[in-house]
Amino acid sequence: MKHEFIEKNVGWLAVLTAVAISFGGLVEIVPLMNDKSAITAQPGMPVRTALEVAGREVYLREGCYGCHSQMVRTLAEEVLRYGPASTAGESVWDHPFQWGSKRTGPDLARVGGRYNDEWHRIHLNNPRDVVPESNMPGYPWLAEQGFEAGEVPAMMRALKRVGVPFDDAAIAKADADVAGKTKADALIAFMQSLRFPKPLPVATAEARP
Ligand code: HEC
Repeated sequence: MKHEFIEKNVGWLAVLTAVAISFGGLVEIVPLMNDKSAITAQPGMPVRTALEVAGREVYLREGCYGCHSQMVRTLAEEVLRYGPASTAGESVWDHPFQWGSKRTGPDLARVGGRYNDEWHRIHLNNPRDVVPESNMPGYPWLAEQGFEAGEVPAMMRALKRVGVPFDDAAIAKADADVAGKTKADALIAFMQSLRFPKPLPVATAEARP
């Protein structure tokens, strides 16, 4: 009877549905906020350089996440293809994280070191020059655009405010670090930084191809 009443009164249904969903959310989310393994940086993880931070912004601006995830799942075939499965501790300094689930292109969480910078340069300009069957768009303008003074330090200060441990000296010389670099240079530096932080866990390292 009571159930029927709720189902027939949209107001009550909406309120009680919201209560049920909030409760479910709290039970799943709150414990994770206090789980050390989910909120502590992976040991050995380097803090990004100014150029890598700048490249990450380009990645976000260009919407690369629309086709690429950055999270290797724990499935055996993923570990064989991409490398060790991703851990929460790898993403604690990424705001916002780039896990995603849309994979028109391959996952990029371990792409660092897979190709050299020159390959990336050609690929970003026109992917078909290195992968003939690719349907990834080209981004030729990135090789022509640079960064304005103050732009990258501002990105780093914002990230520092939400917990990324940049030291003040790194922020102070960020403009000098990206001087003369193009957006393509920065994006490539970011791509090359996407790799598993050392030391590798033994069990998954063995599963690497
Ligand atoms: C419309 C979907 C799409 C978008 C948007 C896109 N890509 Fe791709 N990407 C692909 C596809 C498909 C491939 C596989 C073919 C190839 O290598 O070009 C790929 C491959 C790659 C690879 C090689 C990965 C590997 O392991 O071989 C890199 C690196 C890459 N993309 C970076 C980027 C970056 C950086 C951006 C944003 C500037 C971007 N992609 C935007 C679809 C996309």
